[in-house]
Amino acid sequence: MKLWEGRFDKPTAPDADAFNESLSFDKALYRADITASIAHATMLGRCGILSEEESERIVEGLRSILNDIEANALPVEGYEDIHSFVENHLVARIGDTGKKLHTARSRNDQVATDFRLYVKESTLKLKATVKALIESLLDLAKAHFDDIMPGYTHLRKAQPVSVAQFFNAYSEMFLRDLDRLNHCFEEADVMPLGSGALAGTSYPVDRTITAELLGFSRISRCSLDAVSDRDFVAEYLFACSMIMAHLSRLCEDTILYTTEEFGFFEISDAYSTGSSIMPQKKNPDIPELVRGKTGRVYGHLMGLLTTIKGIPLAYNKDLQEDKECLFDAEKQVLRCVGIYSEMLRNVTLKTDVMEEAAGSEFTTATDIADYLAKRGIPFRTAHAVTGKIVRFCIENGRKFTDLSLAEYKTFSDVFEEDILSVVDARNSANSRTVIGGSSASSARETTASVEERLASLCR
Ligand code: ARG
Repeated sequence: MKLWEGRFDKPTAPDADAFNESLSFDKALYRADITASIAHATMLGRCGILSEEESERIVEGLRSILNDIEANALPVEGYEDIHSFVENHLVARIGDTGKKLHTARSRNDQVATDFRLYVKESTLKLKATVKALIESLLDLAKAHFDDIMPGYTHLRKAQPVSVAQFFNAYSEMFLRDLDRLNHCFEEADVMPLGSGALAGTSYPVDRTITAELLGFSRISRCSLDAVSDRDFVAEYLFACSMIMAHLSRLCEDTILYTTEEFGFFEISDAYSTGSSIMPQKKNPDIPELVRGKTGRVYGHLMGLLTTIKGIPLAYNKDLQEDKECLFDAEKQVLRCVGIYSEMLRNVTLKTDVMEEAAGSEFTTATDIADYLAKRGIPFRTAHAVTGKIVRFCIENGRKFTDLSLAEYKTFSDVFEEDILSVVDARNSANSRTVIGGSSASSARETTASVEERLASLCR
């Protein structure tokens, strides 16, 4: 039975029903819906709007429905939406008392409440998976403080860095995502129930009772806004989009670093794929697919933003479009982050290749310029002198590390014996001991700081 059919003298056309329904996807809200209804019925009883006995019968009926759904004994189907489904089954189980559940409530404040409960729980799930990913990155960082690799700008070798800082860089991004998820939780943590269809209710309800029963720390303060506010959905989708953006950057680095050309990382066969025609191929399908799914998650954010932009106050059915995008974003982020944590645990780092690469292509040129500048030569002049040394090496097929002191002195008499250790790639990385720098000691401190912040964001 429809919740609203009294006013109509014809049943809705089957295609209109099929178009209008949301049960096929909002059944994901069954637990939130029943939990919210139990709290609502309890509050109605405590406030004397329903008798204690009626309230208890409703709560019992709702509990039995929840149990049956969770035991797979009650398929969630056959109604317009999850709210109609639950209410109809309640009436079927406990009779006319069940028809009192919807007193002082509308589906508008009901669905907003259900969805907020769902989103709060979901942000905790996302946090747990992002935390596991950071733990994978931390393990890699901790194993490689003393290894070096080239750092890049413009995808050209720039300066040598501790391998640990590469992984720390991604931990920093995902820590920001955890912070955003904490914010998403707070945004969703406002209870709309009591807003009715749009104007509140004339029954003597006590909204603080319902909020407390449902674990909401705040109560909405304007019913018109409360039934139509989906900012928390947009915030959630933005947080998902940023997680995917960060993951997609990591995918790009993983794909590059596993190429034959780079050869820094090797993904285990267990997380690689082959080609149907080229027998030699080992493809990075997992990072590629994760990178690809990023577009789909961004799409959900753009879709929701577009849906809400033209909605007049208060509730409009457009808002039903807030759900599938969020459910899919949640699913994609959980899958992508989850598989990535596992894949990272199955990556081998070729530290010798990285070290070799860190010392080639003049990555310590800045160190030469700094050497001269620290000995009184203006930095711009030091830069030009170093540029000449680079050119000399390119023209003569030489490296910084195999020039003699006498050769260095032909470019500047400031050079002394110690220049030969300054141009060493590991010494270069380890000379940047500034907080957050490329040295092994800085990397150790950054990793310790990541661990501390991880613990405090996940408290
Ligand atoms: N399925 C609806 C939604 O998701 C529930 C609210 C229906 N309210 C209404 N006035 N038709 O938004």
